[in-house]
Amino acid sequence: MSSFSQNQVYKTPRATMDGVNSRRDITVVSRSRDLSQEMVKKLIHQSQEVKTQSYCPYSKFRVGAAVMTLDNCVFTGCNVENACYTLGLCAERNAISKAVSEGYRSFKAIAIASDLCDQFISPCGGCRQFMREFGSNWDVYLSKPDGSYQKRTVDELLPLSFGPEDLSMNKVFS
Ligand code: THU
Repeated sequence: MSSFSQNQVYKTPRATMDGVNSRRDITVVSRSRDLSQEMVKKLIHQSQEVKTQSYCPYSKFRVGAAVMTLDNCVFTGCNVENACYTLGLCAERNAISKAVSEGYRSFKAIAIASDLCDQFISPCGGCRQFMREFGSNWDVYLSKPDGSYQKRTVDELLPLSFGPEDLSMNKVFS
């Protein structure tokens, strides 16, 4: 598993192509929801690395995200903007969509990185709802370029949320 710690698998197209990190190679050491300090640092670093791939010719605002699944696979994503502005994709949604596309729907944490020096990057409302689709009780690491961070749960970022369960609650019309 090369330079990655034994309980973290970093999924990239390159890693998949050379077979090193194919799904059957995943070593599940701990499914604990709590990340060690080392894992947090690494996840933030991964979000900073993918930030460099950001395609943001319009906003010039680079964002990277790294989401960790329950079995410690990591998927990364950057923001991808478009000349038709409304089609732009946020980094968090990109990372989560990559994970879901590979069959992962249970997450323990997501780290977000931007170039803001004096603020911890905070996810937009749409991304908070996108995270919430996959549960309220998982962690979001809001980081600064120096690696410092704040931890929030999805529930803290989106209280009183609407989620998939609400669709099957009692209704006056069905
Ligand atoms: N952006 C993200 O990728 N994630 C967020 O949570 C906040 C905003 C992107 C969208 C757009 O490409 C740029 O940052 C400026 O809004």
